[in-house]
Amino acid sequence: MLDWGVGEYEQTAVELEPVAELVVDMARLSPGEGVIDLACGTGNAALLAAERGARVIGIDGAGRLIEVARQRAREQRLEVDFLDGNLLHLPLREAAADVVISVFGVIFVSDPVAGLREVPRVAPGPPANRFPWYDPDALAPVARAAGLELRSTQASTLAIRGSSPEAYLARARLDPRAVATAPIIERAGVMDEVQEAMSAVLRDANEDPDAFLVHTPYVVHEFAVA
Ligand SMILES: C[S@@+](CC[C@H](N)C(=O)[O-])C[C@H]1O[C@@H](n2cnc3c(N)ncnc32)[C@H](O)[C@@H]1O
Repeated sequence: MLDWGVGEYEQTAVELEPVAELVVDMARLSPGEGVIDLACGTGNAALLAAERGARVIGIDGAGRLIEVARQRAREQRLEVDFLDGNLLHLPLREAAADVVISVFGVIFVSDPVAGLREVPRVAPGPPANRFPWYDPDALAPVARAAGLELRSTQASTLAIRGSSPEAYLARARLDPRAVATAPIIERAGVMDEVQEAMSAVLRDANEDPDAFLVHTPYVVHEFAVA
């Protein structure tokens, strides 16, 4: 594999920045959404995504460029997890993110099938049977078929608070969806593991070290009768 750390790729990265902007625009990121920038180089797209409030991981095989990306993040006071890694074996767990982007990056892998196979592993997206209500591109044609015109979509975040992640989790167990699924989890004998995993997710996401606060993204769609 070519070592992209030799020479001064930084100059090329400046030329490519408009494409990073286009790709990040096209991703229509919501605050808090998990994004992976594959072959992030010096971090062009990853930093733009972080600027929009996404939780971003940037991965590249050139250690020197990863260091440049980390320095840029420090200078811009942005939080991005920049990792030195191979696109063919991403150093990430299953379902680590919601969205994957790549700007002149994944096209350089030696094995396109192996490279692309990593994408649905780390970002499987919503279950196939769940309609993506939040996505205006998916919703507009369905609405049109039902006689409605999608006029606008406004993204925002909702603050969810509690006295602690554990207190919030205890309250959430009374949600009708949790009540309905509890017997299935109990029958499988994994309730403690599930509770601990949920607790860990809430602790990770918690924005208030003295209590519990998360901002959950949502959208408001406006329709008119067509
Ligand atoms: C043209 S640069 C693009 C960098 C960045 N996305 C940008 O827009 O400036 C290609 C990048 O792909 C990375 N790359 C190529 N093959 C890779 C692989 N198998 N694993 C990780 N990174 C790889 C290189 O290290 C290099 O930084």
